[in-house]
Amino acid sequence: MHRETIALHFGYTADGHAPTTAVPIYQSAAYEFESAEHAAALFNLEREGFRYSRISNPTTDVLERRVAAMEGGRQALCVGSGQAAMHFATLNVTAPGTNIVSVPQLYGTTYTLFAHLFPTMGVTVKFAADDSPEAISALIDDQTRAVYCESVGNPAGNICDVEALAAVAHDHGVPLIVDNTVPTPILLRPIEYGADVVVHSLTKFMGGHGTTMGGIIVDSGKFPWAKHARRFPMFNEPDPSYHDLVYTEHFGDAAYIGRCRSVYQRTLGSVLSPLNAFLLLQGIESVALRMERHVENARRVAEFLRDDPRVEWVNYAGFPESPYYHLAQKYLVGRACSILTFGIHGGLTAGTRFYNALELIKRVVNLGDSKSLACHPASTTHRQMSAAEQQKAGVTPETIRLSIGIEHIDDILADLDQALDTAVPSQVKRGSSLGVPSAAPVPTVLAQ
Ligand SMILES: Cc1ncc(COP(=O)(O)O)c(C=O)c1O
Repeated sequence: MHRETIALHFGYTADGHAPTTAVPIYQSAAYEFESAEHAAALFNLEREGFRYSRISNPTTDVLERRVAAMEGGRQALCVGSGQAAMHFATLNVTAPGTNIVSVPQLYGTTYTLFAHLFPTMGVTVKFAADDSPEAISALIDDQTRAVYCESVGNPAGNICDVEALAAVAHDHGVPLIVDNTVPTPILLRPIEYGADVVVHSLTKFMGGHGTTMGGIIVDSGKFPWAKHARRFPMFNEPDPSYHDLVYTEHFGDAAYIGRCRSVYQRTLGSVLSPLNAFLLLQGIESVALRMERHVENARRVAEFLRDDPRVEWVNYAGFPESPYYHLAQKYLVGRACSILTFGIHGGLTAGTRFYNALELIKRVVNLGDSKSLACHPASTTHRQMSAAEQQKAGVTPETIRLSIGIEHIDDILADLDQALDTAVPSQVKRGSSLGVPSAAPVPTVLAQ
């Protein structure tokens, strides 16, 4: 089945209770047992079924199956937000004294989780100098438990060479975990290039309407946990928190999600509500169509900004001069994502004036809504970082990040035009010889 069709049908058949075409919202905290023996079999994980919605829920189960199929994965676990997905996905492979090696271009809160929270739990995250396989490889040591990247970085717009990063990770016997929020499986399926675990903020393009928080962890089922038992005892040795279950023995190639659900979801309880699972399923039905329009509108916006003398630089992987152009061809088949950043003449002051002048495009920190959105990362999503950390993450003081929606392109361009008029001194107007727009003066780390 193709991704477009999976997004509409996979994982659900009416159960005979009522032949609904829509996936029902199972708004139930618990599920009745047939008997004490039935309950025991469920708790022993000997039988499949539902017992309590903190562990699993029939509506959420359809979403898990559907997104796993779209990503080409083995199994998935839904959680309450994208952030919880990053947290559980990495926690599942680490222990105090171990480390993760990450690219530096990350969503701000993921960076905060890695740089500030994980060390308090005894897990170090080593940030590579850039997103190249060489820089990642240089940091992997005996205590490394995963390599982490965003397939397309937010807001840097860098495209990771997933295949090369997977090869480096596998050479060292560790999995590659990829945040695939920005491209979605419609534009890129990291598992096809060797990624072991894919995580998403479903809040963004997948849900697509800016209404619903959600996250998901998808396992490829391919990483050989048993072969690397020394690094990953949590999958290979009896777990006293689950009556000495050995996850690789019990779940086979589904050990990763089996443990994540049984240990982290069960005890930390970052639950996606069934209603939210339903809303996300509705959004996903149209994700393929929306992505087409997002991508096309973003290309038109990038070209408009590049050709405008009021704009100093544009960072868009669809331009041949972008250092990520060749990776956009390989991984996105030329369909550069609809997140792009730019800076206008006049630096931070003009950037702020531009931001305040927007009328149609909404000033929010979210991305991936069907509406066009604008964000000023230095004062919002990446505010907690130092200037040097921001620079590494691809954020400069004047950077404006756009998430281009699916409105009519003329209305998007008209709003940008009037906001630029308000923001930029009159001598740098359209048609003037001043101000030559250029490709982004991307931070050095991005240019590598
Ligand atoms: C790339 C990326 N990953 C993860 C997250 C976190 O997702 P959520 O807001 O659903 O917790 C975000 C949020 O903006 C994001 O952009």
